[in-house]
Amino acid sequence: MALSFFSKSKKAVQNRFRDDYATKMRLKYDPYYHAMESQHGTNVRLHGRDMIMLSSNDYLGLSFHPKVIEAGRAALLKWGTSTTGARISNGSRAFHIELEEKLAHFLGREACHVHSAGYLSCISSVAAFAQKGDIIFADKNIHSCLWEGIQLSRATVERFSHNSPDDFREVAAAASTSDAPKLLVIEGVYSMEGHIARLPELTEIAEDHNCFTILDDAHGFGVLGRHGRGTVDHFGLSDKVDVICGSLSKSLASTGGFIAASREAIEYLRTTGKQTVFSAAISPASAACAQASLEIMQKEREHHDRLWANTKKYRAILKNLGLDTWGSETPATPIVLGSKERVYPFWKALLEKGVFTVMSIAPAVPIGKDLIRTAISAMHTDEQLDKIADAMAYAVKKL
Ligand SMILES: Cc1ncc(COP(=O)(O)O)c(C=O)c1O
Repeated sequence: MALSFFSKSKKAVQNRFRDDYATKMRLKYDPYYHAMESQHGTNVRLHGRDMIMLSSNDYLGLSFHPKVIEAGRAALLKWGTSTTGARISNGSRAFHIELEEKLAHFLGREACHVHSAGYLSCISSVAAFAQKGDIIFADKNIHSCLWEGIQLSRATVERFSHNSPDDFREVAAAASTSDAPKLLVIEGVYSMEGHIARLPELTEIAEDHNCFTILDDAHGFGVLGRHGRGTVDHFGLSDKVDVICGSLSKSLASTGGFIAASREAIEYLRTTGKQTVFSAAISPASAACAQASLEIMQKEREHHDRLWANTKKYRAILKNLGLDTWGSETPATPIVLGSKERVYPFWKALLEKGVFTVMSIAPAVPIGKDLIRTAISAMHTDEQLDKIADAMAYAVKKL
């Protein structure tokens, strides 16, 4: 009897993934998880064909920079492949501390903690500081990792319309009679939309309501501000944001994440943040690559200049074709097509012409905003931008 009970329960779970509609559709249309045979910079090889990568987040194009590669190689030789454990159990290494101090200094914060993924950093930056009974005001379009952090914190969440200070003001006013601790959770640059947070207005309202402000700058870091210090620096509002979290996997051309804040906040995180306490440390090579990129960002201005020149050129290409970029202000550039029936042929046409992009369809984006998500890199060449322009023109004809 016991056996049959267990096998039935197991079957229910198995049926869940066998019958999953989204998985069936993904396997049928096959838009994701393509296995590239090789890569050099923004050139990838897929099914024996050379393609231009237009959906990575290598904004500054440092993932093939010789100094970054050399830093990773040297770290592997010196420190081995992994620390094989959480820092609370088998200790930090000199390279963790060095990277954290450099990031903290760069961002004008007292302290920083790095994780093996940006996703972990961003979950932890909410889940460690918020708790049950708190009220979190959150932009409706924040990244999945921030929603997870909110859920784990068990705080009450009040959403406001995307990047709308007016709606935030109303939502915050409605909660103003409560003396619960309040937090604001936003992104600096929204990953899908490419919008820059309206930080001056949002932080002013947050101050009026005594909110502790957490900002995920995964897509602003390296892109905005002095030498790429990010969205907070872009607006000169360093003292208005309490926690900046982000990713090492975009402009810093590595893999990992960070949280930068006051020393007290970081020490608290190291005691109470589950993702911080119970997950293995970032690897030596990843830390070294991020640190090398951080140094290059400050010394070699040309990557940043090239990124913005390419972005301007790319934006003009899309505009000339009448494509809707959702008002993107940054290198993260969506092409909004409005339905999956329009997105799929567009994506396929680009692929046919040798341009690799990613489709993002509802519910990953709001209904009616189904889009192709693209991102420009400093590494895209003029010749590649010309090819991208031809491919886009071809894809438009397929709509
Ligand atoms: C806004 C935002 N936050 C956090 C992350 C997670 O970063 P990572 O890919 O380094 O885990 C991403 C990744 O796409 C992101 O777009």
